[in-house]
Amino acid sequence: MARERWPSRLLFIFAAVGSAAGLGNLWRFPYLTYKYGGGAFLIPYLIALLVLGIPLLVLEFAVGQHFQRSTVGAMRKLKTWAGAVGWWMLGIAFVVLSYYAAVMAWSLRYFFSSFSMAWSGGAESYFYEQVLGLSSGIGVLGGINWILLACLIGVWILIYFSVFKGIKSVSQVVKVTMPLPILLIFILLIRAVTLEGAAGGLVVYMKPVFSALLDPEIWVAAASQIFFTLSVGLGIMIAYASYVKKKQDTAGDALWTALMNSGISLLAGFVVFGTLGFLAMQKGVAVPDVVASGPGLAFVVFPEALSMMPMAWLFSLLFFIVLLSLGIDSAFSLLEGVLAAFKDRLRTSTMKLSLIGCILGFAGGIIFVTGAGLYFLDIVDHFVLSYGLIMFGIFECLLVGWTKAGKEVKEHLARESPWFPVNLWWWLIRLVIPIILVVMFITFFLKELAAPYEGYPGWAIAVGWAAVFLPLVVGFFLNKWYGKKREVAEITVP
Ligand code: PFF
Repeated sequence: MARERWPSRLLFIFAAVGSAAGLGNLWRFPYLTYKYGGGAFLIPYLIALLVLGIPLLVLEFAVGQHFQRSTVGAMRKLKTWAGAVGWWMLGIAFVVLSYYAAVMAWSLRYFFSSFSMAWSGGAESYFYEQVLGLSSGIGVLGGINWILLACLIGVWILIYFSVFKGIKSVSQVVKVTMPLPILLIFILLIRAVTLEGAAGGLVVYMKPVFSALLDPEIWVAAASQIFFTLSVGLGIMIAYASYVKKKQDTAGDALWTALMNSGISLLAGFVVFGTLGFLAMQKGVAVPDVVASGPGLAFVVFPEALSMMPMAWLFSLLFFIVLLSLGIDSAFSLLEGVLAAFKDRLRTSTMKLSLIGCILGFAGGIIFVTGAGLYFLDIVDHFVLSYGLIMFGIFECLLVGWTKAGKEVKEHLARESPWFPVNLWWWLIRLVIPIILVVMFITFFLKELAAPYEGYPGWAIAVGWAAVFLPLVVGFFLNKWYGKKREVAEITVP
């Protein structure tokens, strides 16, 4: 059986950028920039990109491409036991996907409400009371929110039809979902910067406060943003690169991916802060009084600003199409990463596997459309992203940097990307990155010990930890199963 292939190099880059550019670019990057020193934040951000992000992306691309196996198969080539780590990563990817899809369900709901501008009576109460039906605390589940459940089904149908024919359908879909949000962001950008008060917002966004760089927290924030934004650490990029033919300069592809992704973040920040400047002026308050991040930004503050614009419904529609189209290719990349591992091992049809994956992902995500959904989302997101990604980064670096098969990856890279500073990269992944990541891990963990995250009760914190470590238990058994029979999908190298 011949391995599936990207129809072209360009479409592989489209898919990688599609995965990287997601909600994180729109609702996390601008806020972090504002919070951590404005324009000065770009310094730690760029350093983290060069020292951590790009080397890890190059690593994941090279591993997938060299071994021509998705995450589990490739990890097993490095060390057989590391297959369990591969499954663990994919388990976490599945958890991320289940709540990422819930956020997309909210976006879908807002897309429909844009026609009537349903939130114009009060954006905050609309989101928390009407859309989410938020319960009084994480201990009160509050029942299933049926409208959101319907939207969630809608999102999963979209995801299914993106992956149901494997790389073939993925490469069709990214032709739209990669360029579309960029185009719309440009339109929103023109709208934002021509609004009254926009300049005030942009100053708050970009004015550098260099003294902020002395705070170590900024560096940790920059580093963890880089992980999330580039979609590294969950094995997704390994899976995508395993469908690249063996002769291709994937280090170059990594550079393009990183560049486009950061460009999208920067642009999104101008849209967000230009609009926030307008909102602040309309309300007669200072810009920092309206700034928010995450759901509060995308579903409360931004919609409020949109409702004050002329042709509010039109720009609202555009904004939620941006959210949906940015998010969908990140979401299905998470699923494709998981499916790819099964496809390497099973002969089952891609359509059937995709359907099972979608049903399970949907079922796992129902908790996030209950009244307590936002709390669970917050906890699970915090734990899996703070700890999961860092741990996997450490594993990946050490497995490639210190094994015999890892050396092959280095040689592969030197051959396919002769321009790339392979030796510098080698020492980064062998030593520098693992050390940085261990320090980050300890920093996060000490903070965890000092106080429970956001004051949640002990059992809820345990749920967060379980989301991190249960996939490891599953991964252990799946790795045993994976090793039982010869890998069936034999690889033909063109
Ligand atoms: N990079 C995506 C974002 O910034 O929203 C999120 C993401 C997708 C993270 C896929 C990890 C991943 F594997």
